[in-house]
Amino acid sequence: MKVIDAENLWKIYNKRKEALKGITFSVNSGEVFSLLGPNGAGKTTTVKILSCMIRPTRGKVEVMGYNVPDECGKVREIVGVVPQEFQGFSDLTVEENISYFVKLYRGDRSQVDELMKTLGLLEYRKVRFRNLSGGYKRRVAVACSLAGDPKLLFMDEPTVGLDPRSRRDVWNLINEVKAKGITVLLTTHYLDEAQRLSDRIGIIYDGKIVRLSSPKELMEEFRKQTLEEAYLALMESLGDSS
Ligand SMILES: Nc1ncnc2c1ncn2[C@@H]1O[C@H](COP(=O)(O)OP(=O)(O)O)[C@@H](O)[C@H]1O
Ligand SMILES: [Mg+2]
Repeated sequence: MKVIDAENLWKIYNKRKEALKGITFSVNSGEVFSLLGPNGAGKTTTVKILSCMIRPTRGKVEVMGYNVPDECGKVREIVGVVPQEFQGFSDLTVEENISYFVKLYRGDRSQVDELMKTLGLLEYRKVRFRNLSGGYKRRVAVACSLAGDPKLLFMDEPTVGLDPRSRRDVWNLINEVKAKGITVLLTTHYLDEAQRLSDRIGIIYDGKIVRLSSPKELMEEFRKQTLEEAYLALMESLGDSS
């Protein structure tokens, strides 16, 4: 079953900036799909449209069978988002931040404890958000995104700026989320991460999808041992050095 189906999707900001120039891709139920591509390629724009934060300029978009943007009310009920810049309530504690989101989705108290447990936050429950390290802030972001029991989770660069240990923790989290049957759409700049986690990848370059494949297929195409090398070879073939 297709959880995301985007066909000829365009986004033009302020009637001038063509951020997405007709992208087409789909994501199947239960997979981890990673959007890769250089800065400014259109990854965040895609995530924002699919998660109903901004409207597409044109194109057909369906998320869990619902039309975007017409049925965004439904979509918001079943998706979770870890934004590129998650800002928790800085003066509230870990527990209060998570509780806020659980209440938004009319979940009960036990879910707050469950989420803190899953994300290894029980010890930090009374710590104010602003006093957490980057890795723990990210854990809170993930906990909040899971508050409504989403069927689909968007994570925009979830490991940027994290130390290696915290990155591993986030990788484990993504695998746990996947094991629960939740579909994950990820964006990342870290190709080792994408190779490790993704069932399939979509590479965006200048607002267009230039490859849709599995990490293995791309590595085979360019006869490389790692996704990073294959990605760099692809970028070179497109005349880009970034
Ligand atoms: N609100 C906006 N208004 C105008 N241009 C934007 C806006 N948001 C993003 N852009 C532009 O759209 C392009 C794609 O941006 P983005 O989707 O954030 O890329 P990525 O996440 O791949 O780095 C970039 O050129 C960016 O500057
Ligand atoms: Mg981005």
